[in-house]
Amino acid sequence: MSKIPEHILNEIQDRCDIVEVVSSYIPLNPAGRNFKALCPFHHEKTPSFIVSPDKQIYHCFGCNSGGNVFNFVKEHEKIDFIDAVKMLAEKTGVKLPEYRQEKGEDSSLVSTIYTINDIAAGFYSGLLIKCAASTDVRRYVEKRGIEDEVLKKFRVGYADSSWRSLADYLTQRGIKHEMGLKAGLVLNGKDNSFYDLFRGRLVFPIFDVRGRVLGFGARVMDDSLPKYINSPETIVYKKAQHLYGLNFAKPHIREKGFAIISEGYLDVITSHQYGISNSISSLGTALTVEQIRLLRRYTHKVVMVYDADQAGEMATLRGLDLFLEEGMNVKIACLEKGHDPDSFIRKFGPRGFDAAIKKAKNLFEYKLGILKEKFNTDEPEAKAEIVKEMLGTINRVRNAVVKAEFIKNLSAELSIKEEAVWEELKKLGKGNRMSFSYAQGRQATGSRGQETKRQVSISPAEKILVRLMLEDASVVDTVKGSLQPFDFKSPDVRHLIETLFSFNAEGTAIDARRLINYLEDRVSPHVISFIVNDEVRIKDKEKNIRDCINVIKKENKDRQLKDIQGRLSLAQKNGYKDEAKDLLEEFNRLLKTGS
Ligand code: UTP
Ligand code: MN
Repeated sequence: MSKIPEHILNEIQDRCDIVEVVSSYIPLNPAGRNFKALCPFHHEKTPSFIVSPDKQIYHCFGCNSGGNVFNFVKEHEKIDFIDAVKMLAEKTGVKLPEYRQEKGEDSSLVSTIYTINDIAAGFYSGLLIKCAASTDVRRYVEKRGIEDEVLKKFRVGYADSSWRSLADYLTQRGIKHEMGLKAGLVLNGKDNSFYDLFRGRLVFPIFDVRGRVLGFGARVMDDSLPKYINSPETIVYKKAQHLYGLNFAKPHIREKGFAIISEGYLDVITSHQYGISNSISSLGTALTVEQIRLLRRYTHKVVMVYDADQAGEMATLRGLDLFLEEGMNVKIACLEKGHDPDSFIRKFGPRGFDAAIKKAKNLFEYKLGILKEKFNTDEPEAKAEIVKEMLGTINRVRNAVVKAEFIKNLSAELSIKEEAVWEELKKLGKGNRMSFSYAQGRQATGSRGQETKRQVSISPAEKILVRLMLEDASVVDTVKGSLQPFDFKSPDVRHLIETLFSFNAEGTAIDARRLINYLEDRVSPHVISFIVNDEVRIKDKEKNIRDCINVIKKENKDRQLKDIQGRLSLAQKNGYKDEAKDLLEEFNRLLKTGS
């Protein structure tokens, strides 16, 4: 349960419109009284995500995620409820009372690590700023052409070559060595000593989407190896889950409608320096499904610009399949051999880079180009190999029309009959793709469970009745006269009814968005948004209420009868005659009561 007082939550909600907040993340289209969109929490082609300005609630009928404005920000930013409240409080100018969160050890460790990371980023960038122009690092920065402004924006810093600069600084700041160790910044030496991980390197902080420092990458300033040393995975830094530069790029990705993804720190920094601000990087070559899903919250379109070398090509092909698998529209921009976006932009300017982006190839052109270079297309075996390779990718395309178009082109390019290609595709079978995406989907559900549909099991009568009670407080009186909370089957609904009854007794009104905050630790927000966003029109309200009450009574009675029957047969089986007799009487009594 959040320790933020309810009236503060209400005040924040009063000051921010859910439509405004949601539309700052995803495009919304008006649909009757509501707004519709493609759900940002699961993949879909037709919108089933709705936002209700009246109720200040959102709900996706595809994956059943839902809740109020706090829940949306929490889910979208992947942050805690409290952090979502803080974010919106800041936006709306509502002052939060000083409060001390009763944190488990983990969450206080997490925030300590963030703090240490932030201190370290400040320390390294301070060192760089203080360096004289004649120093190696300054000369290196100049040689790379990184301007001061972008250097500051990305908080690029310098780790000098002594062994304990940061370790000592952290001690000065009252931070224990073990914490530096947990942040992955210092290492254990001999005899209880500690030393810095990064020495004699240019340091790049890695941010999350909110701009918090998660970890670092550090580059040597000559040709020695390893070129980069990166932070180890820590309690806050999970390499596979972040995209470098996304915190700066996200508004520009929305504005431009697509993202440019490259491999390295400097590719992003140089892009941003030259105004190509929708640029992000996967940091190294192994793009992950989690990174793609993170990006998918901001756009479905991406252009990959990986290094024009063999490793880059392999990574591009792999990334291509993953993007398709996740339903993204992906293109590949090719640079002159030996270039990466950083060096390309420096040589050909942002215009040259823009042109390369505009010329980006679709998966078909790109992959076929590579395969045709590799194989001699005159030989049938080579054709077969190309078809097999191409189909492995084409099979991942989700849109049937696009898929058919690719198959048509492929057969034309190789001068083979289209049917033959279809035949081969059939052999691959749908199972191939399905089982893959299934496995991926399952994996991702672990923490948040968003890719599979959440379950809400509430009977229609209970659903309608709660909805009507929330729309009109007088319905609560009617229901109170006929039903008790325990008459309802769903435990969630029981909580809701209890709360509605008690608020009604106090004479205070409660709406759905408040109910969500109030019941935060007892009823999942998507259950409430599921109930209130029901679009079924109710014509004769009075009759509907009566019918629902009767159905609930009947359902409840049936449940009780079934329960008695079960106990009765158990008693009979075990020869408990007295108990069986009592149960039978109870059964008959219940059977006779009117419903
Ligand atoms: P690159 O080797 O292309 O480096 O690796 P770069 O960033 O473009 O650097 P320059 O242009 O040679 O100065 C691309 C990315 O792969 C990761 C880094 O994130 C790097 O930015 N990488 C590379 C490592 O993590 N470790 C390495 O040893 C090399
Ligand atoms: Mn590079």
